[in-house]
Formats: sequence, C-alpha cells, structure tokens
Amino acid sequence: MNATKARGPRRGGGKADARQSGPLSGAATAPGDKSISHRALILGALARGETRVRGLLEADDVLRTAAAMRMLGPEVERDRTPEGALWRIAGAPWRTPETPLYLGNSGTGVRLIMGAVAGAGIAAAFDGDASLRSRPMGRVLEPLRMMGLETTDENGRLPVALEACQDLKAITVKLTTPSAQVKSAILLAALGAQGVTRVHEPELCRDHTERMLAAFGADLSMTSDGEQGRFIEIAGGQSLTACDVIVPGDPSSAAFPLAAALITPGSDVTVRGVLVNPLRTGFYETLREMGADIAFENEREESGEPVADIRARHSVLHGVEVPASRAPSMIDEYPVLAIVAAHAHGETMMRGLEELRVKESDRIASVEAGLAAIGGDAASGPDWLRVRGKGGALKGGALIKTHHDHRIAMSFLVAGLASEKPVEIDDAAMIATSFPDFFALMTSLGGDLGVS
Ligand code: S3P
Repeated sequence: MNATKARGPRRGGGKADARQSGPLSGAATAPGDKSISHRALILGALARGETRVRGLLEADDVLRTAAAMRMLGPEVERDRTPEGALWRIAGAPWRTPETPLYLGNSGTGVRLIMGAVAGAGIAAAFDGDASLRSRPMGRVLEPLRMMGLETTDENGRLPVALEACQDLKAITVKLTTPSAQVKSAILLAALGAQGVTRVHEPELCRDHTERMLAAFGADLSMTSDGEQGRFIEIAGGQSLTACDVIVPGDPSSAAFPLAAALITPGSDVTVRGVLVNPLRTGFYETLREMGADIAFENEREESGEPVADIRARHSVLHGVEVPASRAPSMIDEYPVLAIVAAHAHGETMMRGLEELRVKESDRIASVEAGLAAIGGDAASGPDWLRVRGKGGALKGGALIKTHHDHRIAMSFLVAGLASEKPVEIDDAAMIATSFPDFFALMTSLGGDLGVS
C-alpha cells in the first residue's frame, strides 16, 4: 500500500484499500435494487407496449440483462432526462438469438432469462464468466425439463443450451431450495405453458417477480400453505401489458454504508429510498437484535413496494443467534453481517447458510479466511458460520482474497474503515457488478478508501 497515492473514489479493477476513518456522516441515496432492475427489463421485454423504468441499477449484471433482451428482439434504450436516466423497453415477440447470451457474473440474469426463454418458445444458448460457470444451473433446468423442455448443459452448469419448445406443460412443483431465482424462472416459463403451474414455496423468499407480474397485468394467486410458506398459481397463455416501474434502492447495497456507520465510532448515516419489503429486511432485523441504533424513517410505498430512509448510528453491539429461517430474507447480507459481528461483544451464530456456498464465491470460506487475516475469529461448518466478536476494532493490515466476489470485496473494505491498520482487497473490479458508485458513495460519507 502506498499512502502517498491520491485517494478517493474510483471504479474499475485492481487492488483497493480502506483505512480507519473519522466518523461517517451524512445522507446518500442507495443504488437501484438489482433484483427489481433485472425483472423490470425482462418483463418489459415480454410485455406488449413500452415499459418505462426509472432508477434502474446501471451495474454490470443488469446491463448484461439489458444486452440479452436486445439480442432477443425487443428494443431497450436509455434516455437522459432532467429527472435522471429513463430506460424504455419496447416489448416484442422474442426470437432465437444468433449467438449465446452471455450473462457475465449474473446468476439472477441467467436463471430468470432461461425461464423466460422457455416460456417464449424459442431456443437460446447461455454462458457466463468463470464464477457463473461454476454455479449450479440444474435447479432451474430440472423444472424446465419437467415442463417438457430439452436442454444440454455441462454437468448442470454453463454453458447451457435450451431447445425451442412449443408445447410446454404446466407443472406442480415444490421448491427444494429457497431460491427466488428458481421460483422466478418457473413462473416466467409458466407464462408460456399449457395449463396452470402451481409452485409450492415452503420458505418464503423475495417476491418481486410475483409483484411485478401482477403490475404487468398477469393473473396469479398466492395462498398460504397453512405453515410458513405459500402456493403460487399462474395460468399459461397470458400476455403482459407494459407499465411504468420505479426501482427502489437496494437494501443489499445499503447494507454496506449502514454497517460501516454501526462499527465506526461517532458515525450517523442515512441511506435514502431503500426497499424495505419484509422478505428483504432480515439483515436490519438482526442488527436491531444486536442492539443497533437503526431506524426506518419516512416509510412510504413506491411502485407497489415499501420504501424507507434508513438511519444508522454507531452502536455498542452484542452477538446473537441468527435463525436458519431468516436466511432467505438476508441471503446476500451475511458477509457484511459477519464483519459487524466481528466488532460486537460476544458470539454471533448464523445457521441455514448452505446457499452461501454456491454464490459468486463460497462466501462462508471467503469470510472465514478474510476475518482470520484481519484479526477476527470465525469458524464454520457446511451450513453455519460463527463469529466471536472483539467488542471493538479489528487489527486489519492484510490483503484479502475476494475470489471475484463483489460482496466479499465491499464487506472487507467496510471492515477496513474501522480497523487499526488498513485492509486491502486483491481486486475491486467486481464491485461494478452491483454497486458501481460504491467508492464515491462511501467517500462522500467520509470513508477513506480507494486505489492502493
Ligand atoms: C436474487 C435471489 C437470491 C440472491 C440474488 C438475487 C433474485 O438468489 O442471492 O442476489 O433477484 O432473485 P437465490 O434465489 O439463488 O437465493
């Protein structure tokens, strides 16, 4: 690390570091929600008419989905307006693309588009980067095969090819993995299937596809299964009608500045316009249980989703048990929760984490190794992670391997803001997949982080 180099916001790859910072303070606006952004582009491309989207997350993952939609026929354009970017999607019948759809690092993009391609009755091939090629696709391919689709894959992984199927059949299926990506792929395929598809979701996970399908005029029903879950029913042969979408801020991205405020003495930070859909707020619930001074202010509804400004102040935190049942509502926030837990008093036990092993990296392994390197104390099993908190700042002073995982990169930069010595990460490039303005936003709040 070279302390004499210029500091400040940056985008792009290479190493980056974060150093102990004074109190973080001020307000910032969260980038658009990644899940909702993908869905707005895909449903817009399927719908009749022009869908207009404001607040779209302009990050690599979402831009890959936009590019894929163009390759399938619909026109996708970005206009500059005084109120910010306006994305316009002219829905059109999908056609088989000439070359494979390349989704980069994006699991959401590739899995949802596979379902939509199946429902559209066209053929397409799919590929992604090394991380995406290592992730399981069988969870989506299996239900699509049950519907009658012919597929080829590399042992359940990318590259994948889907054949065109004109007589897709509705299925009744129970989700064995609590995955919104799998659920969404099935629902999108079901739009083009004959009959009524019935999905049993024993553990609720994010419901943006269901909400947005309804906003685009689809008829679907959700009923309780009498326990924790629900049944979703959707009839095939329905067409969607374009509508306007305002994308709220991403609670998974807002988690980084808010976590930084909680562990950095004297801090008081507000992130405006954050989605607070109860199926996405497990992280904030857990922080409250840990004693965090965190408040949802100015709660309102925008485009059918609940939204709030979230304010976090530096807090004395204690360890908690995070139940497995909470995992789907905070699945992407465990790495940064582990950083917060490492600063708390006592032990935090997180259970039900098997899905973290198949994210952009094996996040349990990445977090455990990273924490060990900066003076934290973590242990893990196949589906759990335990962090023993230091009750204050960590040592820092290490280079963290991010394994090309954006959330690992941002989590350890957050740790660096409160550590005794700087924390460096091996590569910041992947941060652009979900949070291109991360450095600018954190710097605007007083964080000392940037190129190293
Ligand atoms: C997402 C669902 C989650 C999450 C991902 C986004 C979505 O994945 O980790 O970042 O938009 O549906 P799983 O559905 O595989 O749990």
